[in-house]
Amino acid sequence: MPTVRPSGPGAVDVELDVNGIRTPLHVAPHTTLLDALREDVGLLGAKKVCDEGTCGACTLLVDGRAVYACMTLAVACAGRSVETVEGLARDGELHPVQEAFIAHDAFQCGFCTPGQIMSVVALLRATPSPSADEVMRAVSGNLCRCGAYPNIVEAALAAARKGKERP
Ligand code: FES
Ligand code: FES
Repeated sequence: MPTVRPSGPGAVDVELDVNGIRTPLHVAPHTTLLDALREDVGLLGAKKVCDEGTCGACTLLVDGRAVYACMTLAVACAGRSVETVEGLARDGELHPVQEAFIAHDAFQCGFCTPGQIMSVVALLRATPSPSADEVMRAVSGNLCRCGAYPNIVEAALAAARKGKERP
């Protein structure tokens, strides 16, 4: 759906692929991907917390790589694939990483959870059988103020095991 937010002089038209859907936007050149998604597209899964690249709550995938959406310009994502936590479930079924986070109690307040999940999804695509250290490294840019890291690591390893069990 095109943006309705006043975007000011110099706004440009860009089209992103957001969770597999062609998404035209009309944004000012300085609009971050995070603001575009939250305010123009209506996807609130990526959280806006520090808005300066220090907490990881806004983590999502651009062309499969985990990035901070608050540090990424929307115009820089023209024609690229953007994946948010909202796009993970398929046919009403949660993604295995989402299921593992629930099964392993990998969150408390849940504020960091979408970003943690996207970092783990990116890790498992690149490294289907990670070690605990590799999981810790993958989520090292995602601050969890509740200290849920032990269960986050457990959840990631469980999701990896489940992936291996699949035919
Ligand atoms: S909101 Fe983007 S890193 Fe904190
Ligand atoms: S679960 Fe609360 S900040 Fe991570």
